[in-house]
Amino acid sequence: MSRLVSGFSKLSKTEKVNWLIKNHLSDYDGAENTLKQYWNSDQKLQQLHDEFIENTITNYYLPLGVAPNFVINDKVYTIPMTTEESSVVAAASKAAKFWQTRGGFKTTVISTNKIGQVHFTYTGDFKALETYFNAIKPQLIEDAKPITKNMEKRGGGILDIELRNKTNALDNYYQLHATFETLDAMGANFINSCLEQFAKTFTANAESTLPKPINVIMSILSNYVPECLVRAEVSCKVEDLAEKDIDPNTFAEKFVQAVKIAEIEPYRAVTHNKGIMNGIDAVVLATGNDFRAIEAGVHAYAARNGQYSSLTHAKIENGVFTFWMEIPLALGTVGGLTNLHPLVKLALQVLDQPNAKTLMQIVAVAGLAQNFAALRSLTTTGIQEGHMKMHLMNILNQFEATPDEKLKIVDHFKTNIVTHSAVVEAIEKLRA
Ligand code: MEV
Repeated sequence: MSRLVSGFSKLSKTEKVNWLIKNHLSDYDGAENTLKQYWNSDQKLQQLHDEFIENTITNYYLPLGVAPNFVINDKVYTIPMTTEESSVVAAASKAAKFWQTRGGFKTTVISTNKIGQVHFTYTGDFKALETYFNAIKPQLIEDAKPITKNMEKRGGGILDIELRNKTNALDNYYQLHATFETLDAMGANFINSCLEQFAKTFTANAESTLPKPINVIMSILSNYVPECLVRAEVSCKVEDLAEKDIDPNTFAEKFVQAVKIAEIEPYRAVTHNKGIMNGIDAVVLATGNDFRAIEAGVHAYAARNGQYSSLTHAKIENGVFTFWMEIPLALGTVGGLTNLHPLVKLALQVLDQPNAKTLMQIVAVAGLAQNFAALRSLTTTGIQEGHMKMHLMNILNQFEATPDEKLKIVDHFKTNIVTHSAVVEAIEKLRA
């Protein structure tokens, strides 16, 4: 109980660190140094990071890598990726290079609509509610003008508001279901502000019109965006899939079968899609977007037909192999971290300052490429060969291997299979 604290957020950063060490880290050797070694000596930069969240005590580093050679709609991209998983960037780069000589990736944005809802209860007659909604709808849009006028100037704004009767599923439950175009902004703040204004207008005017009050439960955007959809595809003649030790026909057939398994088997689909998200999250994070929102929306989409299923699809038709994915991605290239985090700004510059639609296409390609790389390994050499090669450095670092030891051991594993125990054995042998 002594760990309970009040007014913690008001303490200075050093006071917070001291409190943490006293209450949680007294037995942890070098805790203060571990925390402080990640503080940036540039005060301004550190303050920027401190102020991203409450109660910052230090910075948590993740690597920012780049995967070059992505040809997307005939333009070459180098894709920035932030991830802790050792094989992700290597796999993306490998897939990019593979498709670079086979026509590259083709992408299209299918739609860009986003959704927000005012959830409310009403105990009166539906007809009266409907009549009231139809009468007040123009006012809902009008009262939101101070929020929407700039977005409208650029061609976005509120697309529609519907009244939805959900009383079959939950007693007295209705929604204002609104659709938005938020252009290059991810749009969460814009949508939420509009919704809260709708709720105000909707309840205030109801008092004098409806026999029963409207009880607003909450107003919030939806991260389920099945109408903010992008498609990414690769395609080539089956014979062109040939590589040094891969027979193209066997490979293409096994690959398509692997995708079909993920289409019908949820246990496999979850891992299959997790691999896609390895690529997607890494670009989403590097470009300062909300990866939790993306994850939630993507997995909901993967289950849209009632069973969790593969996001990617593959076929062989008339000797042509095609592999594609349609995926919902609500992304922004303005607002949020995009104008704040120096590395996010830099990552967007590496991508030639894409607008939101272009970023949707790049991110979808990163996901498709990642899935291609995973399935190629899984259906040929097995996943561990590549994974463990990339993981080797992590194991060596755990054993605090010197640069010379690293060189020797990496060299040894060029011709030997990497397993945790084999690496430990090699280190022990070298040191003996
Ligand atoms: C590992 O992070 C991702 C994979 O498991 C994906 C897959 O199985 O398709 C390799």
